[in-house]
Amino acid sequence: MRTQIGIVGAGPAGLFLAHLLKRAGIDCVILENRSRADIEGTIRAGVLEHWVVDLMNELGLGERLMREGRPDTGVTFQFLNRRHHLDFVELTGKQITVYAQHEVIKDLVAAHLRQSGAIEFSVSEVALHDIESDKPRITYRDASGKAQELACDFIAGCDGFHGPSRRAIPHPALKELDIEYPWGWLGILAEAPRSWHELIYCSHERGFALLSTRSPSVQRIYIQCDPKDPIEAWPDERIWAEMQARFSFPGWQLVEGKIFQKNIVGLRSFVCETMQHGRLFLAGDAAHIVPPTGAKGLNLAVADVYFLAQALEARYKIGDKAPLERYSETCLARVWKAERFSWYMTTMLHRNDAESAFERRIHLADLDFMVSSRAASTALAEVYVGLPIR
Ligand code: PHB
Repeated sequence: MRTQIGIVGAGPAGLFLAHLLKRAGIDCVILENRSRADIEGTIRAGVLEHWVVDLMNELGLGERLMREGRPDTGVTFQFLNRRHHLDFVELTGKQITVYAQHEVIKDLVAAHLRQSGAIEFSVSEVALHDIESDKPRITYRDASGKAQELACDFIAGCDGFHGPSRRAIPHPALKELDIEYPWGWLGILAEAPRSWHELIYCSHERGFALLSTRSPSVQRIYIQCDPKDPIEAWPDERIWAEMQARFSFPGWQLVEGKIFQKNIVGLRSFVCETMQHGRLFLAGDAAHIVPPTGAKGLNLAVADVYFLAQALEARYKIGDKAPLERYSETCLARVWKAERFSWYMTTMLHRNDAESAFERRIHLADLDFMVSSRAASTALAEVYVGLPIR
């Protein structure tokens, strides 16, 4: 089999790339090691920056998003028994939309298949070859176990942190930087009505908590926990008691309901500064991870492939190689700003037992400054809604 762009991975990066390439008249094939049901059912974050919403609409992918997503004009910060509404629209003229990542995936897969796009699910033994030559190849086993080969002009490694693409870059060229935080997020989905009209980021002595939503009848809530906690350490009663304690606010009540999904994830920051090697281009979690506190993961993946699609289009349509050669540099300028923001939100809002009382006061002063200074509020809002991309 032959195509122009071989895409490894059908997450947000791979699927958005396929749609952008389709618009530019460039062929691609997506290889995904999981099943369609699996990728459409995995619970992830749920905030879309304003330009991602616009892009979905431009690509004809926004119909359900417009119907079911919740446009939010800002977020609430809660600390020291105070609540402060940060008004994104007033500060930046832009808003965000709460719409789950797996719903985005469903919309993009359905549209891709409707447009006869090529995608192979449940492949295995994916391996990248000859990425330093001008004839790179991907070998794999298809869903029936048969050995296959995909020859292409370029490979897009959109296969997440654990995928084979980044590992295909030889060691002297690979440059990786990371931080591991001593915190995990316990996330739940509960059948309950909304308790508040927008997200609440809560800094509390007992630990960070985040109130989000999925629909008028399903709520998404996170609390900081020990990343090594087994999920069994968190029976439903303990989860609600902890959430009630952290979100408690005079005259307001967090509405409880049946918890039907719960999981714990560890927090990390990671950047692979080599986002390209030969004819391989990394995008999304294959190249960088942010802790979820700033809701930047999906948005950053879409930004990568937005740049990649533009660069490939310049290469194919007018023979201009420069944008592709600058791909890493272009992406990393945005990636590091998102890393900075996610690290800042994370360290400011989480309870760190290793910190002194002095450092804790600094974080509280930071929060107070952020909500009381228009300049500081605007600086945060600007990144939260999404830095300009075009
Ligand atoms: C979510 O809705 O899952 C969500 C929202 C905001 C975040 C992280 C996750 O910062």
